[in-house]
Amino acid sequence: MTLSNPVSPSEPPSESSSESPTTGAVPGWPRRPGGIAYGGDYNPEQWPEQVWREDVELMGQAGVNLVSVGIFSWALLEPAEGQYDFDWLDRVLELLHQGGVAVDLATPTAAPPAWLVRRYPEVRPQTREGVVLGPGARNGFCPSSPAYAEAATRITEQLAKRYAGHPAVVMWHVHNEYGGHVPACYCERSAAAFRRWLADRYGDLAGLNRAWGTAFWGQRYGEWEEIEPPRAAPTTVNPAQQLDFLRFSNDAYLACFIRERDLLRGHAPGIPITTNFMATACKNIDYWRWAAEVDVVANDHYLQAEQPENHIELSMTADLTRSLAGGRPWMLMEHSTSAVNWQPRNIAKRPGELRRNSLAHFGRGADSVMFFQWRAGASGAEKFHSAMVPHGGTDTRIWREVVELGADLRALAEVRGSEVAAQAAVLWDWQSWWALELEGRPSVDVGFRQLMLDWYEQLWRAGLTVDFAPPDSPRLDDYPLVVVPNLYLLTEPAAANLARYVERGGTLVVSFFSGIVDADERIHLGGYPGALRELLGVWVPEFRPLRAGETVRLRAADGPPGAPLTGDVWAEEVQLHGAEAIWSYEDGPAAGAPAVTRHPVGDGAAWYVSTRLRGPELATVLARAYADAGVPVSPPPAGVELVRRVGEQDSYLVAINHSDRDATVAGQGHELLTGADCAGQLFLPAGQVRVVREAAEPRRS
Ligand code: GLA
Repeated sequence: MTLSNPVSPSEPPSESSSESPTTGAVPGWPRRPGGIAYGGDYNPEQWPEQVWREDVELMGQAGVNLVSVGIFSWALLEPAEGQYDFDWLDRVLELLHQGGVAVDLATPTAAPPAWLVRRYPEVRPQTREGVVLGPGARNGFCPSSPAYAEAATRITEQLAKRYAGHPAVVMWHVHNEYGGHVPACYCERSAAAFRRWLADRYGDLAGLNRAWGTAFWGQRYGEWEEIEPPRAAPTTVNPAQQLDFLRFSNDAYLACFIRERDLLRGHAPGIPITTNFMATACKNIDYWRWAAEVDVVANDHYLQAEQPENHIELSMTADLTRSLAGGRPWMLMEHSTSAVNWQPRNIAKRPGELRRNSLAHFGRGADSVMFFQWRAGASGAEKFHSAMVPHGGTDTRIWREVVELGADLRALAEVRGSEVAAQAAVLWDWQSWWALELEGRPSVDVGFRQLMLDWYEQLWRAGLTVDFAPPDSPRLDDYPLVVVPNLYLLTEPAAANLARYVERGGTLVVSFFSGIVDADERIHLGGYPGALRELLGVWVPEFRPLRAGETVRLRAADGPPGAPLTGDVWAEEVQLHGAEAIWSYEDGPAAGAPAVTRHPVGDGAAWYVSTRLRGPELATVLARAYADAGVPVSPPPAGVELVRRVGEQDSYLVAINHSDRDATVAGQGHELLTGADCAGQLFLPAGQVRVVREAAEPRRS
């Protein structure tokens, strides 16, 4: 064990063969590797040293050029308080460097060592029910614990000082998936920090009592010390209190990130810093706020493996991640080569699926393809999780696909830095998600993520590429169409933003139970849908949620009589206040009332969909909105995904055939994976991916 000086590794090798020349330069992006980054989480500490040499050699074979190291290594780097052992990490970094593999070096603070937890029991997080969580897993820390903060600062500083100038280190990977496993801590230290956070937000208790509506059930607070986190209670805890606690917990984790980020920046200016998000999967982290704090947006994505068309959810996550990155390229930090180990049934990927998944992320703006993990573990909780090097070694299908993917990514190096062209925006708001799913709502069947996915699926099938945006985005005018699958919580300024967008010519489509409460979880009074009533030109005195399994039929109010649409979950007594009815309820609790409406406002139009529609029926309604917005739609063949990345010089059509039927799509230019040219038509064999450098003029101005 040593406390030696920072390492002086040998001179870096010249640009390795696995690194292709850089084309696009993305601000904040690591200086190496050039081309598309390829690799994964590397855990050499789980293996004897002779395996490390084999690892680096195999990385060379696969074209791996970036690995994330040390993510959970705190106990190995600091085996006892204040005693450090960096020798092994020095040797690992040196080996990787010699092998031409760049390093995304992690701070290990997601895995507090056993000595820390034993010596400072305050580090242990506490659940809402008061259960104190023990060591032996990971993420076992309270984000408001001073002992944790001190220890995390110390190890981060040691790493920063030692490796700031290391030529292998091109990026910092702070922590791991903040907010994962422990969405919030309810211990006494968290309670005290929550009170300080509330005092900052409200200034005085009168402001807090007002915002939380504490006149209800006599919850008035007379002293700050009376306020607790929303711990387990006899029944529903004050929803505004719950919402604030979610905000506080998000901020507490963000403060942990910022503390480490600023230390690293201080010691190693110029090295980009990221932390891995879980974009659509993590409810409790408000990634719009986090995205502003990282140099490069990085995301982890795992398929919902049992879903038959899980590539659609993948696309949604990739589009949301790109949007968090402000449209600039982002890093896919983790996904899996095949099965994970944590779903109820861990379905293995079929041949070619690894490639389709990886290139789908790439098509939607990822300039890195990384996996959890490099080598499948032999021990521990994740030993049945797939990896780039499986338990069976290199004579395996997975390894062959990994090597082929490395070659693909080298062929695609020139696409790096290009951006994705989108035709519409979908609004996504974490705080509204939190509020929507608190207790005591009109129906338990209204879930944020499912609504987003239902609507996204139809946009995907129509062949539209979408960006996501927060409701107060100043950039909505960039899109002819903005879609709102749900925005239960909507502030007055954000509602005004949407109204401005429509007045200036935008087409807005809003689905039910939106615009209902403000940031304090307080109803926008005067009839539903509260903050959007005027813009949508409707007035709703009462919701009419449906029984489980109950459906309602909708009849087109004009035009030729088509088959009725079927809604479920929700109906409303919609009254027209300026809007016109496009479909009306034919039966059910709102029979005779308008169901889908359109309100012309300024140069644009605001549509309202007052029941839950899904599948082709939702597509039917959306088709009217596309036409209204002037968005051209030409759906690709079933199961085919077409996305365009646009660079300074060229544009690239990324075409993925997720189906088991060959397809042909329009395409003109040079195909980068096969080297073939296509003139007008691109043949897309079943299960295959093609990337065409298009002959047409580039679109970016
Ligand atoms: C997450 C974590 C990884 C690993 C994978 C398994 O993304 O960041 O450490 O646990 O899940 O799928």
